Amino acid sequence: MRVLVIGSGAREHALCVALTSDPAVTALACAPGNAGTRTVAETGAGGESLVVADPVAVAALATGWGADLVVIGPEVPLVAGAADAVRDAGIACFGPSEQAAQIEGSKSFAKHVMAAAGVPTARSWPVGGPAELETALDEAGAPYVVKDDGLAAGKGVVVTADRDAAVAHGHRVLDSGGAVLVEEFLDGPEVSLFAVTDGTTVLPLLPAQDAKRRDDGDAGPNTGGMGAYAPLPWAPPGLVDEVLATVLQPTVDEMRRRGEPFSGLLYAGLALTSRGVRVVEFNARFGDPETQVVLPLLETPLAGLLHAAATGTLADHPPLTWRDGAAVTVVVAASGYPEAPRTGDPVTGADGPGVLHAGTAVGADGTVRSAGGRVLAVTATGADLAAARQAAYERVAAVRLAGAHWRSDIALAAVEGRIAP
Ligand code: AMP
Ligand code: GLY
Repeated sequence: MRVLVIGSGAREHALCVALTSDPAVTALACAPGNAGTRTVAETGAGGESLVVADPVAVAALATGWGADLVVIGPEVPLVAGAADAVRDAGIACFGPSEQAAQIEGSKSFAKHVMAAAGVPTARSWPVGGPAELETALDEAGAPYVVKDDGLAAGKGVVVTADRDAAVAHGHRVLDSGGAVLVEEFLDGPEVSLFAVTDGTTVLPLLPAQDAKRRDDGDAGPNTGGMGAYAPLPWAPPGLVDEVLATVLQPTVDEMRRRGEPFSGLLYAGLALTSRGVRVVEFNARFGDPETQVVLPLLETPLAGLLHAAATGTLADHPPLTWRDGAAVTVVVAASGYPEAPRTGDPVTGADGPGVLHAGTAVGADGTVRSAGGRVLAVTATGADLAAARQAAYERVAAVRLAGAHWRSDIALAAVEGRIAP
């Protein structure tokens, strides 16, 4: 099977590493890719300059390269209709249609689906203008949760006790032409649970947790994600079965009922609140950086699984099997991330197993340079979470990137038994 992965982050590097270890994969390409994906995958002709938001270009690359399966990593091409274009070209594609990707692309659409499917989530107030913003904040109360309704690369949400900051974020989104959603605040630890689905059958993966805030102790601004670990030693037994029954399957069934079947990766971002499990958000794709810790633990060959989802044959797929142990990933970010990341700095000590590349490029002089805010996702597995954590941080210490920062507490609260649902 010739597999083409679309995207250029550490999630796509992790997908490539997992796909290369599936004996069914005879050729692998990743476009546009990065300096890390180049070590395990080709790019396809012109693939290094692929514009992922252009569905015609994605489909043309897949056709030209002779792909049997296309795996779309990021949300932007999905929301733009890249999966539809690939399927229209007669090629199997892992990823939802443009319509179905609205479950991530529009938070109000996701709320409608959840209401129809009876899926538990935060109460929400759609905001059409500045006056409604004040009313919604009064009704929701502090702490305030103010969201950009559309895609915002993990930076559209502000959670704050500061009313002025909540109002300012709402105005910023409205002024830029976006729609705003105010939500009830959900307490309790967060869980990311991914499920592979063909639109009917749903196979959940291992639960993971990511660290969204920039700084240790969950301080600082929200980011695309600063690290992750899996599995969750503190998760209640039966959590995955419960979420399958109350969240994932009803959502997939409701999407099919609406005539917008969702196939691909349904990512449920959950809060385990004192009143039970609530959906914080849905994403229409593998999470980043959680994928970097979930895939190294998956024993089932990945290409076969994704191909079954893409071709509607997941009901015939054998049950998933997992390796013992745990995985931890630590994101090494560029100076200035997330506000204004500096790029172009040399990156060394970034080769070898487990060092997944996010924002890197090979410069004209052949050196690897930073090319984005999140530069590397340094990943290790171990017999348990403590061992995986130690191995990941030892590997981080060998990386050289001027001005780099990373969190020093990824998975620490879980290792120390400080998380309770
Ligand atoms: P989202 O983009 O919707 O995933 O939001 C990003 C992050 O903001 C989430 O992972 C949570 O940490 C936080 N967040 C979002 N919605 C809520 C909520 N209703 N209550 C508390 N925290 C939230
Ligand atoms: N880890 C958060 C996301 O992928 O959206």
